Amino acid sequence: MANLMTSENPILRLRGFEIHKMKCSSEVQQAILLDLREIVQKAPMFTPEMVGGRKMSVRMTSAGDVGWYSDVAGYRYMAAHPSGKAWPNIPNRLLDLWAAVSGCDRAPDSCLINFYGEGARMGMHQDLDEADKSFPVVSLSLGDEGLFRMGGVTKGGKTDAIWLTSGDVVVMGGDARLAWHGVDKIRFGSSRLLPKAGRINVTMRVAR
Ligand code: SIN
Ligand code: FE2
Repeated sequence: MANLMTSENPILRLRGFEIHKMKCSSEVQQAILLDLREIVQKAPMFTPEMVGGRKMSVRMTSAGDVGWYSDVAGYRYMAAHPSGKAWPNIPNRLLDLWAAVSGCDRAPDSCLINFYGEGARMGMHQDLDEADKSFPVVSLSLGDEGLFRMGGVTKGGKTDAIWLTSGDVVVMGGDARLAWHGVDKIRFGSSRLLPKAGRINVTMRVAR
């Protein structure tokens, strides 16, 4: 498999979340970053609005058959970028990563790319917009560290948090698939992967 899995570090299991520390080497991270730059050239990042009308603090775009989208009308998957063009394909390197960690045969049809600039965060939420929630969600962190918070399947309640660093992969399957999660904050400038700092999170899902 294209020399992708350079690390076989132990998998941390927290609240059903599987955390693969440093799953992608810095070489692989650099290569994925080039893939992502190509995607962003074809499908520029945008700042979605939440249902209440407030802007999210992250910028995002997608690859795949469908891309996650949000505005005052609600959260949903769309067959095209806001420009009207189809989303770019999911890069093979990311499909390989999914195959290596997801434990499922089906390939993802959606890949969300979130960019966290200085001060950006992601409020606690559940991933509920996918048709079949038996498939896991696989997320890769790149660039600056982010404090990832994990709860249970009901709102409120106890949570745990872990700093995700560049190359870490989180698999949300089984009990964690419907668990609440979010990103409290990032440590802006803590990584040198992105020349102008910031954090990227790449999330692959089977949406349809
Ligand atoms: C998300 O849950 O949508 C993003 C998680 C992350 O940025 O690590
Ligand atoms: Fe999420």
